[in-house]
Amino acid sequence: MINTTVNTKIVGLFGNPLGHSLSPIMQNTAFSLCGIEYIYIPFQVEPGYLEKAIKAMMIFNFAGANITIPYKTEVIKYIDEIDEMAKAIGAVNTLVVKNKKIIGYNTDGMGFTQSLKNKGFNPKGKIFLLIGAGGAARGLAFTLAFEGAAHIFIANRTFEKADILAQDVNRVLGSCATALSLEEAVLRDAEKKSQVLINTTSIGMYPDTEYMPISDEVLRPELLVCDIVYNPVKTKLLQTAESIGCPILEGYGMLVNQGAEAFRLWTGKEPPIDAMTRVVLDKLTI
Ligand code: ATR
Repeated sequence: MINTTVNTKIVGLFGNPLGHSLSPIMQNTAFSLCGIEYIYIPFQVEPGYLEKAIKAMMIFNFAGANITIPYKTEVIKYIDEIDEMAKAIGAVNTLVVKNKKIIGYNTDGMGFTQSLKNKGFNPKGKIFLLIGAGGAARGLAFTLAFEGAAHIFIANRTFEKADILAQDVNRVLGSCATALSLEEAVLRDAEKKSQVLINTTSIGMYPDTEYMPISDEVLRPELLVCDIVYNPVKTKLLQTAESIGCPILEGYGMLVNQGAEAFRLWTGKEPPIDAMTRVVLDKLTI
């Protein structure tokens, strides 16, 4: 049990619904191991109350917050400053209180690229095929482009959304993204040119674990196949890719690394990443 005092710094998680978030146990484990007087608390924010929740951070002893679904875009209206990358992405998942101001960041894309680098894979000069064009895809596409990806194919059920994202990336970071439909022939052609495939949709997430975002016909053994879904740890897509002989990257690394980056922003300290990974994996595999 954390012993709180009037000096305890609060980090909030604002979203709705907040049912099964792993961030509280991951961050509280990290705060406690580092011996710092911080506490991470989920606050389910009802529709229409986000502005009041953000204002409350300045009344109480908040060091910052995480913002999650459905408030990652709306929150931008209520903060004082926004980091360049978060502005380009159009979404904020981390707030930091500094000098009486609230500053917004997006650590999702960086969490993914760090997870990729931890596997010994540098995105610089590589070609990526992203499945999906929602909020998560936006974070990944901008971060991968910023890290020097040679090209990013963005394939989405709703082509127009992929097209808007590709145009946004090309406008901000120079020409390196192309929008595609989810048709198998189109995907196959893009896959042949790509080194990495990433599922950024929620397809395959518990409890609908029998679904895959693409047909297994699209996969070949040279492709690194990544999923941002982390429950289950090994999605149907990753199981299928592994059975074909593809190297794979599970989604929990992105969860841990986005949290680790947020921890650095709130505390200025180096997070205990191994312990954070262990506590997340413990929860996911019971
Ligand atoms: P997030 O912020 O988590 O990325 P989102 O913004 O709702 O969530 O985006 C979800 C993504 O998954 C979208 O790209 C969505 O495709 P559409 O733009 O066509 O809606 C994609 N997606 C979700 N369910 C899907 C399904 N059953 N088949 C194909 N794509 C799906």
